[in-house]
Amino acid sequence: MNKIALLTSGGDSPGMNAAVRAIVKTCLFYNIVPIGIRDGYKGMLDGDVFEMKYSDVDNIIHTGGTILGSSRCLEFKNQETRKIAIDNLNKNGVDGLIVIGGDGTFTGASILSDEMGIPVIGIPGTIDNDIYGTDHTIGYDTALNTVIEAIDKIRDTASSHHRIFFIEVMGRHAGFIALNAAVASGAESVLIPEEIPDLKQLVDQIQQQNKGKRSSIIIVAEGEQEGGSIELLNKVSPMLEGYDLRPTVLGHIQRGGSPSAFDRILATRMGSFAVELLLDGQNGIMIGSDGDKLITTSLETAVKLHNTPDLERLKLLKKMLTKH
Ligand code: F6P
Repeated sequence: MNKIALLTSGGDSPGMNAAVRAIVKTCLFYNIVPIGIRDGYKGMLDGDVFEMKYSDVDNIIHTGGTILGSSRCLEFKNQETRKIAIDNLNKNGVDGLIVIGGDGTFTGASILSDEMGIPVIGIPGTIDNDIYGTDHTIGYDTALNTVIEAIDKIRDTASSHHRIFFIEVMGRHAGFIALNAAVASGAESVLIPEEIPDLKQLVDQIQQQNKGKRSSIIIVAEGEQEGGSIELLNKVSPMLEGYDLRPTVLGHIQRGGSPSAFDRILATRMGSFAVELLLDGQNGIMIGSDGDKLITTSLETAVKLHNTPDLERLKLLKKMLTKH
């Protein structure tokens, strides 16, 4: 193995740079030339690649985003288009490919590993934490902490003004960020895609809780079944007359920022391990974490299945609200 190419794809996540750094440094450690691909599969298609040096990854472990750039490349679904991308890698003498991203990225990677004749390894990088085969995806811990910091600030103003806030968080079709942010911020309720919402119960709960407290934080996962915080507020406001309701959509602030220590360490371990798996002759697999261990799952399985949050946490949240 002489040349390993790497790319970041899909929604960026804090810690992607730490993974890029670990891949490049491990390649150089083994005298392998790392080839950076810019802007995900789009760069593979356009032949936008460059040889990476030590200096390219200096001082990036603490930075958010991805120095390689990212994209969601829909053309990649087309087999003819993929052939162009594969030819570009072959022209550059690439012997192995490492992709960092979420399930869209791995769908592409899984097809590539069948079609390409070049081994592919996946590293899970997404704030959503919805990837099967890993406890944690790179970026989730940082995003969760960003969300909690924002909720804490909103709670200050919510309690000063005796308001009910509906705070919408990311996560696409998964409720990891919402559910765990609710537990960690002491939110009064949470709506997640994995649970059918009961608006009557939500309204009763808000009325009950606000007898003494007069402010509430309701966390709303963007993928929950009522359609998000603004829709939800519109639906419940006729039942909550006399209450001061506000929606807040946290948005892309959740994707940026310096990665947490947890994400930096996870990314460094996964990045280095990916190079070693290629050297070991592995192909078509994704690296995951199981507690403190690194494990592997086939890319095919990782894209077929999904990770779902532990719904026991909803019960935990309810216990925290019991008043005596
Ligand atoms: O997958 C990461 C994520 O941030 C999701 O939580 C969100 O639904 C989506 O990406 C937003 O994508 P975009 O930045 O393309 O609007």
